[in-house]
Amino acid sequence: MTVYQATASAPVNIACIKYWGKRDTKLILPTNSSLSVTLDQDHLRSTTTSRADPSFQKDRLWLNGVEEEIKDGGRLATCIKEMKALRKQLEEKDSSLPKISGFPVHISSRNNFPTAAGLASSASGFAALVASLSALYQLSTDASQLSLIARQGSGSACRSLFGGFVAWQMGERADGADSYAVEIAPREHWPDIHALICVVNDEKKGTSSTSGMQRTVETSPLLQHRIKHVVPERMAAISKAILARDFDTFARITMQDSNQFHAVALDTDPPIFYMNDVSRAIIALIVEYNRVAVANGGKLKAAYTYDAGPNAVIYAPKENIKEIVELIVKYFPQADKFKDPFELFGAAGVQGK
Ligand code: PMV
Repeated sequence: MTVYQATASAPVNIACIKYWGKRDTKLILPTNSSLSVTLDQDHLRSTTTSRADPSFQKDRLWLNGVEEEIKDGGRLATCIKEMKALRKQLEEKDSSLPKISGFPVHISSRNNFPTAAGLASSASGFAALVASLSALYQLSTDASQLSLIARQGSGSACRSLFGGFVAWQMGERADGADSYAVEIAPREHWPDIHALICVVNDEKKGTSSTSGMQRTVETSPLLQHRIKHVVPERMAAISKAILARDFDTFARITMQDSNQFHAVALDTDPPIFYMNDVSRAIIALIVEYNRVAVANGGKLKAAYTYDAGPNAVIYAPKENIKEIVELIVKYFPQADKFKDPFELFGAAGVQGK
């Protein structure tokens, strides 16, 4: 008996230009384009196995060993349905292919990091889901094409189908056919940039990105300014900085955009606070670190960015990482028990809850 099964994994990505706001909540079409770096280490990954079998009663999914309901018309159901439809098209074109598109699938996905703590677990999760179904169904490996489907699981997931520096073009069409991810530059273009993750708090976040975004779109005047007058220029400028390996510009825009995203969250009614006192103290540390560098005639040495949670991601050239870790351990002594930078705060207990 043939077993139809495939496994794929995808890493998280951390945005430098943040996606925040949907213009279509069903298709997940964003109100602005965004740009991220896909982390290429093994720390932050989702690994997903999919199996199709005619003896299964229905589609089922387990996340970290716990079964999740696949709601009719929900995001998981949409992604699975779209992938099955692509397989069906292939089967119709090539009659020699086994007809597995009609079989129910069982999917098991694991994250090797805290789920839903503002560490982009939905991004790696939906990217790995789509990648594993694509391998199971032997579909095209065109990442932009697959990103159209991953996007409908979680917007930011579309960027995790590429490594390196990735843009999600918002597109203009109402059917979403032009809202997909494209590569700005592969990882090898700028291997010197490293990311340091400071896990300030690994609990599930208070306001989900879905409900937060909706509230922001409905109530924030600042969001309207951001999407019309700020993001388009920043997308162009940061893409140029990446291509030129210009860390100073890259860092400046990354920090500005993180600040504006959190300002937009604060401008939401009622306001949303994703950062806490520890997050803000890390900002102060990086600002001071950069100030000293510039005062000594140098350029910016590090950039912080925060997603929808309190955890800091610090982008920096490799040569600065050791110094930054030492600074963080000095000013946040509770972090001194970390085994590696990923566990910087997590291993030492949660701060600033
Ligand atoms: O894809 P979602 O719904 O988890 O939204 C992610 C939003 C941010 O992480 C805050 C920004 C981004 O572009 O990743």
